[in-house]
Amino acid sequence: MKRRDFINWVGLGVLAGSLPVAIAACQSEDTASTPTPDSAATPEVDSTPRDDGFATIGTVTELDGQGFLASKTFQGEQVIVVRNAGDVIALNSLCTHQGCSVDWDGDAEALACPCHGSKFSPDGTVTEGPAASPLGVFEAKIEEDWVLVKVG
Ligand code: FES
Repeated sequence: MKRRDFINWVGLGVLAGSLPVAIAACQSEDTASTPTPDSAATPEVDSTPRDDGFATIGTVTELDGQGFLASKTFQGEQVIVVRNAGDVIALNSLCTHQGCSVDWDGDAEALACPCHGSKFSPDGTVTEGPAASPLGVFEAKIEEDWVLVKVG
């Protein structure tokens, strides 16, 4: 075998050997771009206010799945949405004591402030101080699978 023939033969072998790797790499990229059932089930939220002032904060599926919806930048307000006896309620999530953000405690079915321990019922009423005033309430409603809040 001549030297040139040998180099061509080795080059062809390397090319043939790397072909399955190249195909596998392309397949993994294709698989990564395929939407998963979860991402396909979560529609993109458009929180632009409508003419009636309501804007979408999330879906009913998300609300019932995680127990709450929260945004620190919803129309310039901090908002947390929870269920209150089956109804949907939107609250200002700024604690009325000194302004920390309250969190939803699903086990206690209450809103709890991590700073000084105030607790609020799902309708925003103070159940434990030092906060003395209830959380602010925003209008909220459900349309189809969308949770809408009006902060203005
Ligand atoms: Fe919430 Fe003090 S800021 S209890």
